[in-house]
Formats: sequence, structure tokens, C-alpha cells
Amino acid sequence: MEKKIFIKTFGCQMNEYDSNRIYDSVKKIGFIKTQDQKNTDCYILNTCHIRDKAKEKVYHEVGRVKKLYKNKNKPIVVVAGCVAQAENQEMLKREPYIDIVIGPQSYHKINNILKSHTTKQKKEETDFETISKFQYFDQIKNTSNKISSFLTIQEGCDKFCHFCVVPYTRGPEYSRPFNKIINEAEELVKNGVKEITLLGQNVNAYSYVEGFNKYKISNLINELEKFSELKRIRYTTSHPKDMTNDLIECYATSKKLMPFVHLPIQSGSNKILKQMNRKHTVEEYLDIYDNLKKINPLIHFSSDFLISYPGETDFDFNQTIELIKKIKFINSFSFIFSPRPGTKAAELKTIDEKISKERLIKIQKYLFSFQLEMNKSFVNKTIEVLVENKIEGQDKLFGRNKYLNSVIFKGDTSKIGKIVNVKIENSNQNTLFGKIENNNMRAA
Ligand code: SAM
Ligand code: SF4
Ligand code: F3S
Repeated sequence: MEKKIFIKTFGCQMNEYDSNRIYDSVKKIGFIKTQDQKNTDCYILNTCHIRDKAKEKVYHEVGRVKKLYKNKNKPIVVVAGCVAQAENQEMLKREPYIDIVIGPQSYHKINNILKSHTTKQKKEETDFETISKFQYFDQIKNTSNKISSFLTIQEGCDKFCHFCVVPYTRGPEYSRPFNKIINEAEELVKNGVKEITLLGQNVNAYSYVEGFNKYKISNLINELEKFSELKRIRYTTSHPKDMTNDLIECYATSKKLMPFVHLPIQSGSNKILKQMNRKHTVEEYLDIYDNLKKINPLIHFSSDFLISYPGETDFDFNQTIELIKKIKFINSFSFIFSPRPGTKAAELKTIDEKISKERLIKIQKYLFSFQLEMNKSFVNKTIEVLVENKIEGQDKLFGRNKYLNSVIFKGDTSKIGKIVNVKIENSNQNTLFGKIENNNMRAA
């Protein structure tokens, strides 16, 4: 009999990709994806551990599921993702409502675990078996048919920034075989996908050796370039240390690689970068910026900023502000440092909460103002938009420009999957609004 499965996904794009791959896998044992979380046979929470109270949020979510199913048959409750990896057995002991705990490198076991599940038996799987996992998923078709889809090429991290849990929750760096990635990209393109975002915790550290060939992310980009139906290529998240010349060169040679670089720097202070164990300096970051701008002045940057890392003085913080003013980042993320159990920075003295909040407000003021300025600069211009979908209940379409800005405009569904020219009439911090143009003039 057909059973239903619902996955609630938190955290980064990698979790989103994983959730879709779990759906692809469990289809083989008769589970059908549902959007209705109140009527499902299996409820998966795909969790994130990156910032504070992550664990408590999961227990809170489980409590919510418990309430939803108060007068009904309980679904199989699975905690997956990075909190599952970090907490493992503990979760089963603390919350008997949870049936299964499974870490990100054990997803290849999910079918067997679900098949053999009985109400009395709890199960925990948190080994790092990354190779087996990818070998398993290589055999299962990726059914994603979203116009813009993710494709994991690399997982895990060996960099051990002192604030970060990822090396502990995703395990060591692993790069998937080149040809397996290309096969999966081919499947996606056959499904109608027009934009692929290559994913990895350190996506530009991708490195795969076969015989005498060493493949890097630049080789993947060059290969994807050849897919005539594919219109756009992106990658995330990259690390400044791995921004090598061959990747920078792709911005000169590739017509499909988007001129938008998400390159986290975290801080504008060399002192803080060193204390964070980031392995690069502000000057090295600026060199990458200059080299890319020389290739294409229309390339724009976004970043992640970590505010109030232990030891950050007003002077250090102002260096971050100066860097933001210099680069004029768009669409960036900023977070107050949150001590994570098991990381080196967890034991360090934290900065006063009031000061941290003031710093966050200040940094966001600058980041938002550059974002707003950038969005305003599109008004009265015609830009290229890849149309992703129709907005429900409206005669409007949703798409994105080259810089990942949301664009909303009137149009019919025949445009979905196409790149259209849109004349922008209005903008706010997050969205551009415009009118589709019928002629084929060159757009930005
Ligand atoms: N690998 C990427 C890199 O090196 O920049 C980032 C991965 S992490 C999933 C995304 C962002 O979360 C980081 O860039 C950092 O700004 C933020 N982050 C990580 N650990 C954090 C912590 N303990 N407290 C606050 N923010 C954190
Ligand atoms: Fe975390 Fe640093 Fe690795 Fe990024 S490079 S995932 S911030 S440890
Ligand atoms: Fe969160 Fe794990 Fe991604 S901690 S950000 S879900 S790698």
C-alpha cells in the first residue's frame, strides 16, 4: 500500500538537496511525497546545527508533531541532518516520540531502516559513510524538475574554522567522481532544469583524481557549459582559500557562469580572521575581488559576516564596516557569533549581548543600503530573467536575474524555463517589479 512521507527542511541548500534525494530514494519502497504534514505516515525533520538553540528547536518541532497527531496514529518520526549527527543516541533517550535518528552521511540506509521499522525498535545511524552514500544515490535518478536545481559535488569540510560545527556534522571533505556529477547534471537537464547550482560546504575545494586526470570545479563548469539546454551555472559556498586562478578564469571563458560570487569573509579584521582560523587575509580576499572585477566589472559579491567573534573590538568591527563600504556587497548574510558545543571557540569569552546587537544592526544597515542601492540601479533598465514559476493565484511570474534578485512581472506560463527581458519599473530591498518586453534587445 502507498504510504506518505513529509520532510520539513531547515538550514542550508545542502539540506534542501538531501531532502529531495531522500524523497527519490524512499519512492522505491512505496513512500509518496506529501505536502500535508497533518496526514503523513512518515515525518522527517531535516535539521541544522549551525547556530544557537538548534537542539532545542528540534525538540520543540517534535512537540509540535506530537500535538498534530494527538488523536491519530503516530507517524514514524525521523530526525535527520546536522543536529541528528551531533546529538545521535541522546535524542532517542530524551524524546521517546522520535523513532529514528539519521546523520547526513547515512542516508543510503534510509530505505532499509524504514522498511524494517517496528514501533518498539528505535534506530540511530550516524556513521560517516560518505562514499557508500554517494555510490547508492548515483544509482537513483534525481527527479528534480525545478527550473533551478541544486547538485551536490562536494561534501564536508577540513578547514575547522574555530566557530563552526560543520566539520563535525558533515565529516571530512569528499568530492564526488567527475563523471557521476556530469551524469546527474544530464538527468537534471533532461527533466527540464535550466539552472544548476553546484553545492558543497567548500564547493571550490572540489578535487577528484582519476588516473592522470585531476578534476577541479573549473572542469565541471566547463563541462556543464556544453549542455545546450542549460542556461545558467552557479556554485555555493566557496572559500577564499580555494578561489584558484582556473576558477577565476572561468568568469572570462564561460557564458553561463553567473557574474555573482557568494564568497564568505566573516570579518574585515586580519586579527579576527587569524583567531577564527580562516586561513586567509583581507588582502588576499581583495586580490580575488580585484582579479574578478578586472575580468568583468559587472561581477558583484555577497558574503557571510560573523559579528562579535570573541575578542572583536570596536576597531576590528569597524574594519568589517570599511570592507563592506569598499566592496559594496549585495545580498549578504550576517550573524552574531553563537558558541557551538565541541568547537574551539565555544570556551572563549563572549561579547556583551547589547554590543553584539548594536553591531548587527549597524552592519545590516550598511548591507541593506547597498542591496537597496543595487536594486534601485535596475529601475528603468531591461534585464534578463530566468522564469522559474507562476505565482499562485495571480497572473504573475517569478524569476531571477543574474544576481539572484527575485523579479516579479505579468506573464503567461509558456515563459516558464525561458530567459526573458524584463523592464524594471520598481524595486524594494528584496524584489524587482517590471514588465516583460517582447523584443529581443540585449539585456543586462
Ligand atoms: N563553508 C562556508 C564558509 O566557509 O564560509 C560557510 C558555511 S556555514 C554553513 C554558513 C555561515 O554560517 C558561515 O559563513 C558563518 O557566517 C555562519 N556561522 C557558522 N558558524 C557560526 C556560529 N557559530 N555562529 C554564528 N554564525 C555561524
Ligand atoms: Fe565551517 Fe569554516 Fe568549513 Fe565553512 S570553511 S564549513 S565556516 S569550518
Ligand atoms: Fe546547517 Fe548542517 Fe547546513 S549545520 S548550514 S544544515 S551543513
